[in-house]
Amino acid sequence: MPYIREIITDGHPTLRKVAKKVQPHELSEPLFQQLIEDMFETMYHAPGIGLAAPQINVSKRLFVVHLQDDDKHGPFVVVNPKFALVEGEIESIEGCLSVPGIVGDLSRHEHVVCTGLDRNGKKIELDGAGLFGRCLQHEMDHLDGVLYIDKAKNVRPAVTEEEKAAVAEVEGAGPAHDRAEADNDATEHDAAEHDASEHDTSDRDAAAAASA
Ligand code: NI
Repeated sequence: MPYIREIITDGHPTLRKVAKKVQPHELSEPLFQQLIEDMFETMYHAPGIGLAAPQINVSKRLFVVHLQDDDKHGPFVVVNPKFALVEGEIESIEGCLSVPGIVGDLSRHEHVVCTGLDRNGKKIELDGAGLFGRCLQHEMDHLDGVLYIDKAKNVRPAVTEEEKAAVAEVEGAGPAHDRAEADNDATEHDAAEHDASEHDTSDRDAAAAASA
């Protein structure tokens, strides 16, 4: 049974460590498989579209992603990820579950190819452009002890609808809202979230346009 773990926030030393490579034998351990289940559960509950192990105070090189927009963007877990290709440059507005309520502007690669292992130790390759690509880069940074606020300009509270959508974009609430609702997790929804969800599509379009 998966458990929701606590998401640690900026200031916690684990977020600043370079996470350790996962050893092959760990993959077959029940505790490691439990960790993966817990990471998905914690990400969906947040709600978010990506979560790296250091964010739940586990300094190991793996992350989960699930954009929940279609079946091409997850759910994936990537163990010991690397970028096989990075190209292009795109402006991004990002937020992070470990830096709640804050957004910033930064530059990311437009397209990445991420390789690693799945939960069974099988090689996987994820092709990431747009939001998915930015999410992969954001999660990879967590494994190296880097937070987006280290690279971002104009770090600020998320106030406008576009900024709230940006928090949603890379790691925070938004696309995952529908999933949480489908789980009948009604108690988690406050007025602000409902408000955000009503504007969800247009805000995401606006954010996409802004970063294009
Ligand atoms: Ni983050």
